[in-house]
Amino acid sequence: MSVHIAAKKGEIAKTVLQPGDPLRAKYIADNFLNEVRLVSKTRNIYYFTGLYKGKEISVGASGMGAPSIGIYSYELYTEYNVDTIIRIGTCGGYTSELNLFDVLNVENAASESTYAKFAWGIEDEIIENQGNVFGVINETAAKLSQAVKSTNIHTSDIFYRATPGTPAIAEKYNCTAVEMEAFALFANAKHLGKNAATLLTVSDIIPTQEQISADQREQALTPMIELALETALH
Ligand code: ADE
Repeated sequence: MSVHIAAKKGEIAKTVLQPGDPLRAKYIADNFLNEVRLVSKTRNIYYFTGLYKGKEISVGASGMGAPSIGIYSYELYTEYNVDTIIRIGTCGGYTSELNLFDVLNVENAASESTYAKFAWGIEDEIIENQGNVFGVINETAAKLSQAVKSTNIHTSDIFYRATPGTPAIAEKYNCTAVEMEAFALFANAKHLGKNAATLLTVSDIIPTQEQISADQREQALTPMIELALETALH
């Protein structure tokens, strides 16, 4: 048991897929894993461990925002000896050059967040994905003939804001999209010498206000989920 996860030591696999939403974790466990065990439900943040093509994998939620993923990813890495976390989330596109349903592999996450600085003394406002999993994702996507775009993204603490448009930090680092967690995940992995990647499906295009409907959401995420699971086999 850790402070926020009830699983016993050994009940979480070395590789964890981490969506934001606990129900998405359940959807993945129900539809993609065999021999599934629910290993934690503290705060309704479900963690499941099961087999994908014979390999043990865990899937569990991060919650929303840097503070939340900061807690869960830290406890997974330090209390459960997790080696690799692949975040699987959604993002808003800053540019209409992106399309709804595009899958992005995050090269670097830029943020105004003070998380990395005050947690670990990492002063950078942009942090790279950690370890080789980013590369394995691209190789796996090529083998599956699946389109994935490598890009920088903005990790923001803000979902609703008064001024529309692309924030300065996103312009500065050529961030094509925004989400709310990758920067803190990468900061934890960097500090701890662990592996971390982030895959994102574009769920809305900010300048045009197009968005994936609630009905489309479950199916829309399938290519990203399959890519993350196939990557986890390596
Ligand atoms: N995740 C999905 N869409 C988003 C947006 N527009 N801003 C922040 N996070 C998001």
